[in-house]
Amino acid sequence: MAVPSKTVTNQDLAALVETNDEWITSRTGIQRRRHCAEGESISVLTAEAAQKALERAGVTPDQIGACIVATVTQENLVPSAACGLQKDLGLPEDIPCFDLNAACTGFLFALHTMECLLNASPRKFGLVVGAENLSRVINWEDRGTCILFGDGAGAAVVECREGWPSISAVMGCHGSGELLCLPGVESGGHSYISMEGTKVFKFAVEAVPWCIDQVLKKTGQTVEDVDFFVFHQANARIIDLAVRKYHIPAEKYYKNIAEYGNTSAASIPLVLGELQEQRKVGPGSRVLAVGFGGGLTWGSCLIEFA
Ligand code: COA
Repeated sequence: MAVPSKTVTNQDLAALVETNDEWITSRTGIQRRRHCAEGESISVLTAEAAQKALERAGVTPDQIGACIVATVTQENLVPSAACGLQKDLGLPEDIPCFDLNAACTGFLFALHTMECLLNASPRKFGLVVGAENLSRVINWEDRGTCILFGDGAGAAVVECREGWPSISAVMGCHGSGELLCLPGVESGGHSYISMEGTKVFKFAVEAVPWCIDQVLKKTGQTVEDVDFFVFHQANARIIDLAVRKYHIPAEKYYKNIAEYGNTSAASIPLVLGELQEQRKVGPGSRVLAVGFGGGLTWGSCLIEFA
C-alpha cells in the first residue's frame, strides 16, 4: 500500500464546513483521511504500491501476465493508469494492461477479471491495483460527502493455476446515477461526487449480506470456515451491522476507516496490506472480501493467501 503524506483530520474539516468531530466519528467511524498534497501524485503512489507488492511476492515484472488498475480518478483517461504502470515497472509488452471502473467494488471486479485473464494466459501472475485520488473530486461545500473520502493506492500480486480453487466471485450491478454520481468531463459541470447518503447506506446494508451468502453458497463454506472478513471501508456502522448479523468475532475482521476514510477502489487492498503487515493473515488464510459502491455495484469473493 501507499498513501499520501497529508493527513486531514475531522477538526480540519470543521474549519471548512458546518460539522464536528463527534458527528463524523459517531456517524461514520472516520477520524482522519489522507489527501494528496501539492506535488504529490496518485500515479507515483500507484507505482509505489505495485512495486512493493511485486517485492513482497518475490515476483519479477516479466512474470506478470496482466495488469488491471481499478480506479475512478485516474490522472489521465489516456494513457490508462495500468499502461502507466506497464511503463514504470517494465511489465511485458505482450499483456493486457487496462483500467476498470466499478467504483468502490472495483478491486473485486478486477480480481475476478484477472482470474479469467490468467486462466487463458501462459504467465500465471497478475497485478491488481486499486488507486484513488478522491480529494480531487470532492465538493468542499457539501458536508454530507466531503468528510467521507480519502486518497491511496493498494496493490496485490495474484497467482492463478489450473486445479486451484476459483475465487468464486459473485457480483452485480444496478445502473443508477440517482444515489451516487461522479460526472465525467462531457457533463460540462464540475466533476464532484454527489450522494444520497441514507439511501446508499440502506443499499449497502442489504448488499453486504447478499454477497456473503452467495459466496458461502458458491464455495460450500460456512462463516466459521472463513479465516478473515474484509469489508469495503465506507462506514464503520455498515461493517458493524454485518459483523453482528454473522456473529463474526473481533479477531476475524478489521477496520482502518478511522485512518483513511473511504478510499473507494483502494479500500479493500489497503485493508489487505495492513492485515499482511500485522501478520493477521498469512499463508493459507482464506479471506472473504466484500465490496459495494457507485454504479450501483457490489461483489464478493474468497481469496486464499499464498
Ligand atoms: N456534519 C454534521 N451534520 C451533518 C453532516 C456533517 N458532516 N452531514 C450531514 N449532516 C446532517 C444532515 O444535514 C442532516 O441534518 P437534518 O436532520 O437537519 O436534515 C443530519 O445530519 C442527518 O443526515 P443524514 O444524511 O440522514 O445522516 P446519516 O446518518 O445517513 O449519515 C452518511 C450520512 C453519509 C454518513 C451515511 O448515510 C453513510 O455513510 N451512507 C453510506 C455511504 C456510503 O457507503 N457511500 C459510499 C458507497 S461506496
